[in-house]
Amino acid sequence: MALELPGINKALEALAEELPGPAKPAARHTLMAGGKRLRPLLTVLFARLFGAKDDGTGRSLYRLACTLEMLHCATLMHDDVIDNADTRRGKPAAHVVYDNTTAILAGDAMLSCANACVAEYNDPALCHVFAKATAETTAGEILELNALRNTALKAEEYTDIIRGKTARLIRAACEMGALFAKATQKQTEAAAVYGECTGLAFQIVDDALDVADAATIGKPSGGDLREGKLTPPLQIYRDRLDEASRSSFNAKFAEGAFSEEEITSVCAQIRTMGIDTEVRHMADVYLDKAASALNDLPNGSERGILEEILTYVRDRKK
Ligand code: IPE
Ligand code: IPE
Ligand code: MG
Ligand code: MG
Repeated sequence: MALELPGINKALEALAEELPGPAKPAARHTLMAGGKRLRPLLTVLFARLFGAKDDGTGRSLYRLACTLEMLHCATLMHDDVIDNADTRRGKPAAHVVYDNTTAILAGDAMLSCANACVAEYNDPALCHVFAKATAETTAGEILELNALRNTALKAEEYTDIIRGKTARLIRAACEMGALFAKATQKQTEAAAVYGECTGLAFQIVDDALDVADAATIGKPSGGDLREGKLTPPLQIYRDRLDEASRSSFNAKFAEGAFSEEEITSVCAQIRTMGIDTEVRHMADVYLDKAASALNDLPNGSERGILEEILTYVRDRKK
């Protein structure tokens, strides 16, 4: 996995150079702040799995993979404004260092730059997948906003939110790798299924991690409770309270009235009750589906790494 990072980071530097000058500082602040580079890595792995080589012509595989990182970073910059989040990738968020409008506009420039780059590949299918993933990510964020502080959120509504805001972009990363390699339709569909299921599992585990103690995750725990998102750990915890405590939880949740001490205490109780571990297990069905999607695909070193990524998603601690 780590072997691909220098190539990805070099191509990302080059792509960032193509951004309009005024957008560069805020964009680079997020792009170069670290990050796991999961999405471009998936594009590279699926392309290689289906036999593509980086031909070094400029229309390279790494360059295409980086369009997904640029899109991802743009959504993070917008998301931090939406969520009023101060920290990103262990550093102050772009809108804190610059301001909201600069972060939003730099994000827009990144979306457009990434789209222009995908268009260079002269493949309408690549453009279509990329643009659709962008729209679906946005739709997921809107669904989540509509659901804020809703104490009656249903399981299907939660799944629709995370499919939109997280899974569709990860799906597109996998699908675009397959398309770049001119894989068959069946193979491309398998890549898409792997991506979507991995993305759903990734976000479920992320929601379990949100209640981990602050020292482990490097940011204050309980962000979702603070922001009014009824994620699975919070929902399960709420449903296990006695009636009086449940009504009080619902009232405070609906109003955003939890104190910082209460947020810390709810997170600690969720851990003591083992609910975070239960939630991690909810991701297993998706991880199994993702693993099955790999079954009929070429069995080389890339497939091994794609399997390792599933273990990483399941077990990650931050
Ligand atoms: C953060 O994504 C946003 C979510 C979808 C949870 P990552 O956890 O992949 O963030 P980076 O790219 O490593 O910073
Ligand atoms: C981020 O979701 C998803 C997108 C950027 C579209 P969250 O808001 O749940 O993730 P973090 O906690 O900010 O990374
Ligand atoms: Mg956020
Ligand atoms: Mg958000």
